[in-house]
Amino acid sequence: MARHFLALHDYTKEELDSLLALAADLKAKQKQGIPHRLLDGKTVALIFEKASTRTRVSFEVGVFQLGGHGLFIPPGTSQMGRGEPIKDTARVMARYCDGIMIRTYGQEIVEEFARYSDVAVINGLTDLFHPCQIMADLQTVIERKGGYGGRKFAWVGDGNNMANTWIEAAAILGFDLALAYPVGYEPDAAVLNWAQAKAPGRITLTTDPRLAVKDADVLNTDVWASMGQESEQNVREQAFAGYCLDDSLVQLARPDCIVMHCLPAHRGEEISDSVIEGRNSVVWDEAENRLHIQKAIMATLIR
Ligand code: CP
Ligand code: NVA
Repeated sequence: MARHFLALHDYTKEELDSLLALAADLKAKQKQGIPHRLLDGKTVALIFEKASTRTRVSFEVGVFQLGGHGLFIPPGTSQMGRGEPIKDTARVMARYCDGIMIRTYGQEIVEEFARYSDVAVINGLTDLFHPCQIMADLQTVIERKGGYGGRKFAWVGDGNNMANTWIEAAAILGFDLALAYPVGYEPDAAVLNWAQAKAPGRITLTTDPRLAVKDADVLNTDVWASMGQESEQNVREQAFAGYCLDDSLVQLARPDCIVMHCLPAHRGEEISDSVIEGRNSVVWDEAENRLHIQKAIMATLIR
C-alpha cells in the first residue's frame, strides 16, 4: 500500500477494494455505536487553501470518532500563504502530527508535501484530482447497486478534478465510463492517456450528453467553474449550455439509475432542482460517505 493518498493511480484494485470494505465496516460500527478508536491519541492536520464544507467537517468529525484530534488550518492562516516553502512546512508539520490532509491548487503541491513528510499525506482536493470524493462515491454505488462491476458510469460537464479522478477509477477498477463535455473543456490529457493505455475501450468521450447518459446506471456531474476558476463563470455558462443534468437527460438513462453530485451544486446550471431533489438522487449518501471512507483511509495510512 502506498504511504500517502494523493491519487488513485498509486493504488491497485485490491487495495481500493479493501479501503471500501473497511469503510463499510466502520460505517456499520458507527451506526451501531461500536467504538472504533483506531487513531487513539493521534493528531491529523487539516490544511485548507480553498473553501470547504464537507471535507473539513467529515475529516474533523472522522478523526474525532477514531479517537484522535483534527487540527483545522483555514486558508490564509499559516505561513504557507506567506510563501514558506512547501518542503519546510511539510517537514515541520510531520514533526508534530501523525497525518496531514491538504486541500490546495496544484497536484505538484501535495506531491512535494508528501515527498518531504514523514507522515501520511492525504489529498483533500487539488485542481487535478479529488480522490476522497470518488472513493465516497464508489462506496455509495456499492451500497445502491451492489457493486461497480458491469455498470455504466456517465459524466456530464467539465473535464475537471472529479472527471479526472473518475477516469482513473474506471481504469483501475474496470468499469465503463462515458464522458460528455464541450470542446475546450476536456479532462487532463495525461490522465486520459494513462487510463486508455491501462484499460483500453473502458473510457468513451463525446460532446453529446445524450450519448453519454444513454442506458447508464450512474450519472455524475459537477460545477462548471471549479474553485479558482470563478472569473470564468460567465464564459463557462455559455460553453456548458445544454450540459445541464435535467429530467430529459435522466430519462435516457436506466430507470433505476442513481444521480451523483459531489456538492456544492449550482441548481439550474449543471443540475436541475428536480433531478437533485428527485428519486434517483443519492447526493446526501455521497456526502455522508465522505466521513466513512476517509476514516478508512486515515485508519489504514496513519501509524
Ligand atoms: N465535495 C466536497 O469536497 O465538498 P466541500 O468543498 O464542501 O469540501
Ligand atoms: N470541481 C469542484 C469540486 C468541489 C468539491 C472544485 O474543484 O471546485
